[in-house]
Parts: sequence; structure tokens; C-alpha cells
Amino acid sequence: GETITVQELAEKLKKTAAEVIKKLMNLGVLATINQEIDFDTAALIAGEFGVEAELKVAVDKEALIMAEPEDDPAQLVPRPPVVTIMGHVDHGKTSLLDAIRQTNVTAGEAGGITQHIGAYQVEHNGKKITFVDTPGHAAFTAMRARGAQITDIAILVVAADDGVMPQTVEAINHAKAANVPIIVAINKMDKPEANPDKVKQELTQHELVVEDWGGDVIAVPVSAKTRMGLDNLLEMILLVAEVNELKANPNRRARGTVVEAELDKGRGPVATVLVQNGTLNVGDTIVVGHAYGRVRAMIDDKGRRVKKAGPSTPVEILGLSDVPEAGDILVVVEDEKLAREVAEKRQMRKREEILKATAKISLDDLFKHI
Ligand code: GTP
Ligand code: MG
Repeated sequence: GETITVQELAEKLKKTAAEVIKKLMNLGVLATINQEIDFDTAALIAGEFGVEAELKVAVDKEALIMAEPEDDPAQLVPRPPVVTIMGHVDHGKTSLLDAIRQTNVTAGEAGGITQHIGAYQVEHNGKKITFVDTPGHAAFTAMRARGAQITDIAILVVAADDGVMPQTVEAINHAKAANVPIIVAINKMDKPEANPDKVKQELTQHELVVEDWGGDVIAVPVSAKTRMGLDNLLEMILLVAEVNELKANPNRRARGTVVEAELDKGRGPVATVLVQNGTLNVGDTIVVGHAYGRVRAMIDDKGRRVKKAGPSTPVEILGLSDVPEAGDILVVVEDEKLAREVAEKRQMRKREEILKATAKISLDDLFKHI
């Protein structure tokens, strides 16, 4: 069965070890601070302190590190909206992201100066907006399938010269399933063939009725090429964010989601994480999926080294034991041993799953050849 040391139990119960030892003595158990005690005894002690429910969480280490304490409403402050741009192939998602950032990602990458980190923040009228560059819907869907919801607002890009296309519909369905508000950006308005009314008409077939047609969907005509309408788009994003009262508590241990991750030759495992609540600090011990470690360095979307990252901030983090997956949840854990234990348990589980899958394939293959 599960055991816990007197010291650990005291920490979980927010008591001193001496207090726990005293309670144990009352039960006729002589224990030292490092002594392992079994679940039943621990439960008794917890009961003595009047915290039975908490202990159930304490013994399941994984549940313990993943537990999300409720925030005191007084601690909550507005946070920037996290926006994802979706839409059909070639309708201008990347161009729009680039235009909003005012720098060209491709040029930056070629020059080797700015690293593309898959998410960035802009400021509009003194307010921040975080953009997440999900490469296609696959990543969005994968993240949702893993229970990670990072998007507050979806920008649906529809080219005014092309209209609603299959992937536009997919994007609408994803956003609806995730219950994320949609703002339509009717792009390529600079083109002579642009026909925004046709786009609006087609959108109604998918239950998106724009405001000027009596509905509640905000549609903004834009051009990534001429930059027309971009200010208006940012304005609308901030409006929707305000209506949705997006808040977080910067004064707690960070929790976030991996946007992308890779093994860098020089730097080791690198993960781009979107901090969703709390503040992540250099030096924090973290568990991210099956990886763990101590945050060695953090780099923001402008390539600057930072020491902390608050809610809705995307950062690249270095110092992980392994490369996590997009959609993995990051949590800060005070106890390094606990962090390693949980990560290792997950690694083992993952290996078992892979083994099982491989075994299944070879069995299937066997039957195929009979
Ligand atoms: P995928 O990533 O392949 O799905 O495409 P995307 O949606 O990211 O489109 P991208 O930004 O790559 O743009 C596709 C093409 O449309 C490029 O040739 C852009 O230059 C062009 N384009 C994008 N926005 C505009 C616009 O506002 N006006 C005009 N005229 N062309 C645009
Ligand atoms: Mg693109």
C-alpha cells in the first residue's frame, strides 16, 4: 500500500512534524520525522486534524501535483486573451499573423535572429493580446483531445475572393465544439474580386450570422497585404475579451500548456509553454507531461531572457529532462523528488502503452500473413 513519511504528511496537513508526532504518540505510535507510515494511520492523523478529504489527494501523488486549488476571487486580475487563427488553406492565416506582429516570421527565421516560438504577444492601446499559431487544425484538435483548452477567442479567416471552404467549416465546428467565441476576419479585401457579402451569406449556412445582418457574430473586413482593418480586428478581440471577463491569479504557482516542443541540438529539450494561471519563475521545479526539471532559462517571444512569466504569457523554457508533447500540462511542484517520481511513473506508463501498441501491430501482422 501507499506510505508517506511523517514529514511529508505534516507538510500536506500544513502542520509541524512535531504536531504530527504528538498525534501519533496519542495513538500509541512512536515515530520519527522520516518514518514511513501507512495510509490508514495517515488517514487517522489527518482525521485528528479534521482534514480527511485532503489526505485522499495527498496519497495519490499524481492527483496531488495536478490538483488545481481554487483561486480566491479577490486575487483574480484581468489577463490578456489567448487568440488562435484558423481557416482554410491559403486564406491568409500566416500573413495575418505576420501583419499583426509587424515582423515577418519567415524573414526573421532566415536571418536566424528571431526564433519562431509558435506564440507571441502584441500590445494594442496598452492592452496585451496573445496569439497562438496552431499549425493547422490538427494541433488544435490534438490539444483539445488531450483536454487542453488554451484558446479564448478563435479568429476565423475567410478569404473574400474565395468564401467559405471545407476547412473553414471544420474550423467553425472545432471552435463551436470547444465553446470558443468566433470573430470572423474577412481577408484579402484589397482584391478586386473580394465579395464580403458572399462570405457573410455562406456563413449563415453554418449558423454564423454577422452583426450587420441581425446576428451576433463580429465580422471584420481586413487585408493582411495592405494592413487595412487590423486595428479594428484587434479592437474587436479586446472587446470580446472584456465581455468574457478573462481573469487569472498571478500570485500562485504556474500552470500552463505546451504549445510546441522540440529537441534542440545545443540547448536540449525546449518547450514553448503558454502560462495560463500563476507565475512561472526561473528556478521553479516543474512537471510537464512525462518530463520534469528545473526551469533553467526562459525566453520570451521577442527572444529576450526573462525571469518570470505571468498568465497568458508564452515562453520558451529550457531545463527539461525530456521533450514533452503539445497539449501537455505544465505544473510547478515544490518537491523535486515528487516531480521526478510522477514524471517517471508517466514515462513508464507511456512505454507500456507503446509496447502494447507494438505487440498489437505484430499480432495483426502475423494474422495478415497467415
Ligand atoms: P496555409 O498555412 O497554407 O494554410 O495558408 P495561410 O492561410 O497561412 O495563407 P498565407 O498567409 O500563406 O497566404 C496565402 C497567400 O495569400 C499568399 O500568397 C499571401 O501572400 C496571400 N495573401 C494573404 N493575405 C492576403 C491579402 O490580404 N491580400 C492579398 N492580395 N493576398 C493575400
Ligand atoms: Mg500558414
